[in-house]
Amino acid sequence: MTINLAATFERVMTGQPMDLAAFYREAREATPIFRSESFNGWVVTRYHDVKRVLTDEQYFGPLTYGAGSSIIHGRSILQMEGDEHRRKGAILARTLRNSRLLDGVQRKYTRTLANSLFDKFPIEGPVDLKSMFTTPLPLGVTSWVMDIHEAPNFRSNYDAIVAAGASNLRGDPAVVERAIVAKTELFAFITPLIKQRRSDPKDDLLSTLCSAEYEGERLSDDEIRSFCSFLLAAGVETTDRSLSSLLKYLFLQPDLWQRLRADRSLIPSAIAEGLRWAPPVHAVSRGVRADTEIGGQSVREGERIVTLMASGNRDPDVFANPDVFDIERFKDVADREFSVKATILSFGYGRHLCTGSLLAKMEMVECLEILLDEFVSAEFTQGIPDDVGFVLRSPEHLIVTPRKALARASSGH
Ligand code: HEM
Repeated sequence: MTINLAATFERVMTGQPMDLAAFYREAREATPIFRSESFNGWVVTRYHDVKRVLTDEQYFGPLTYGAGSSIIHGRSILQMEGDEHRRKGAILARTLRNSRLLDGVQRKYTRTLANSLFDKFPIEGPVDLKSMFTTPLPLGVTSWVMDIHEAPNFRSNYDAIVAAGASNLRGDPAVVERAIVAKTELFAFITPLIKQRRSDPKDDLLSTLCSAEYEGERLSDDEIRSFCSFLLAAGVETTDRSLSSLLKYLFLQPDLWQRLRADRSLIPSAIAEGLRWAPPVHAVSRGVRADTEIGGQSVREGERIVTLMASGNRDPDVFANPDVFDIERFKDVADREFSVKATILSFGYGRHLCTGSLLAKMEMVECLEILLDEFVSAEFTQGIPDDVGFVLRSPEHLIVTPRKALARASSGH
């Protein structure tokens, strides 16, 4: 091994700014798998091994209920398997992968919200697109899709719940404690809504969950609350971070921004390439179900594995010139990347492949369309933001001074 991977991984886990692409490259070249004592498990670096851990259910599976973010959300879709997973996943897909809703009310709501957020931007000077756009947009859309957007202290409770999720790798008890208080408040808000939606269902996800049946029985109130809490974490931070990373890259490459302004048909490819290049979820954890070998290493039942999806996305065995951001990489095949046939690993793989990828894509398209219409360019006037975080990683802010397109500029914005 040319570098001490375990020691460098220690620093990676702190989420501090560093060149992770370089670390991933060195790790992939050095070994398919290495051990990290502070993660207390194995770290898998190469594309095909990552994919195997996510798909070979005889030997690998999600961490058991009671570990990871299920401590906060309770038992949700990520802990399910087999027929239960298939049927309950299909219930979520009825709202989240429904083209009638996606191209209808969901897009309409997203566009209206994106416009109203844009209208709040300062007329002149810098704007933090993260706090004013990329965070509130998916937060508004996801909670509207579930119909829980009017919960009291919604924003601060959301912040507390996601802080205790995937990013809290070391399980800081104070963070968990705050999340449990927030979750309790959110659940108290959802409980009467469940009762109401059971008797008077609408087109929202909460209604779908309330009326759905599994093995002849309706989902329990507990289960519905867990699904809502999980979806809030799964749907917002991911989309927010994907958008922020892509915008950061595009603002730093004004020629690419201009290309996209001129040719909007490249937007889906740009989004898919952004997800490959800087995925919001760098890694997911799994447990070993039965003794096996991976990457030439024996692993034993009960051990933990973290799969570096962000490293797999840069594996030259699969992606040509992986360290180049190629806006045309997925031209004509971009839709594939949001489906079960995806080549990128950013939405996971196998059974637990992201259910919300189409919703996320629609939100990102709508955001980009507005910003491409309105901004001729945008400059980081308070320094280029660092990428921070691990497992979830993205720029810490997006403070830019935009040069506005003439039509809006002359109407006051
Ligand atoms: C760009 C945005 C997104 C990214 C990169 C992303 C990424 C992921 C990843 C990596 C997983 C797999 C986790 C694992 O295997 O442990 C996942 C699962 C999931 N995501 Fe997303 N996600 C995004 C947006 C969304 C949205 C908007 C929603 C819904 C509102 C959503 C709902 C889900 C659900 C329900 C699962 C669990 C699927 C299952 O277990 O069958 N995601 N997502």
